Amino acid sequence: MSTPNPAAVAASPTPRIAQHRTYLMCRPEHFTVSYTINPWMEPANPTDTAKAVAQWQELHDTYVRLGHDVHLIDPIEGLPDMVYTANGGFVIDGRAYGAKFRFAERVPEGPAFMEWFAANGFDVIDPAEVNEGEGDFLLVGDAILAGTGFRSTDDSHAELARVFGKEVISLRLVDPRFYHLDTALAVLDPVEGSSGVEHANIAYLPHAFDEDSQRILAERYPDAIRVSDDDGAVFGLNSSSDGYNVIISPRAKGFEAQLRERGYNPILVDLSELLLGGGGIKCCTLELRR
Ligand code: ARG
Repeated sequence: MSTPNPAAVAASPTPRIAQHRTYLMCRPEHFTVSYTINPWMEPANPTDTAKAVAQWQELHDTYVRLGHDVHLIDPIEGLPDMVYTANGGFVIDGRAYGAKFRFAERVPEGPAFMEWFAANGFDVIDPAEVNEGEGDFLLVGDAILAGTGFRSTDDSHAELARVFGKEVISLRLVDPRFYHLDTALAVLDPVEGSSGVEHANIAYLPHAFDEDSQRILAERYPDAIRVSDDDGAVFGLNSSSDGYNVIISPRAKGFEAQLRERGYNPILVDLSELLLGGGGIKCCTLELRR
């Protein structure tokens, strides 16, 4: 009888399957940095709106080339951060939990996104609590990881659990550079596939979280990719995955290698101009789950 060779099994990466995704994006026609609400934003530094649009277009076209559907919300003058659509809400099963922004500069984006959701056939849940949508809430398998510490409140986590009836795991962010969960943690795998729930995996930057949260993540995701501080600092984790293709910053070299080792296909898209506003690939991408 032949027994499987454990070394060979360990060496061959898990086959990865790309899943079709539907995203909401916003062309950064009015992009600039005119206020400071995170440590990346420096209004004294010039921004180049045409460059922001060109880089954003590359991300958009990459999604389309991969076969994903991309919907667009019209940019509104005076709301330069609207390009970061991840903050516009959190959508599961055709139900959109609206955003209620922490800072006055972004407050008008909340109703603008809710109007878009309603006009496009989603059931909209008007939020009572301060929350910044998929910037802080990430669906992993059947659970929702929820960030707090800088933007979304603990009370919003409770509201989120009531709205979707799912397990919500609160995680506390402690480094102001990583003020949204999606700057410090990326979901890599398919959600709600036949066996996807057990296989859902993540990548994260341990130092962005307090000790309790680090313990929770280590226990729940023993196989997670832990990225280096260097890769975290270039927003390597602010990436989007369809289960096989993972769009990441070209500066996150170590993370790129870690993804390849695990059988993912990293695709490099540079959003350097949008990083001046403190956002990257994932920030510009909101998943629409019907
Ligand atoms: N300037 C925006 C803010 O500080 C950037 C948002 C980035 N979005 C994200 N999902 N992390 O609110």
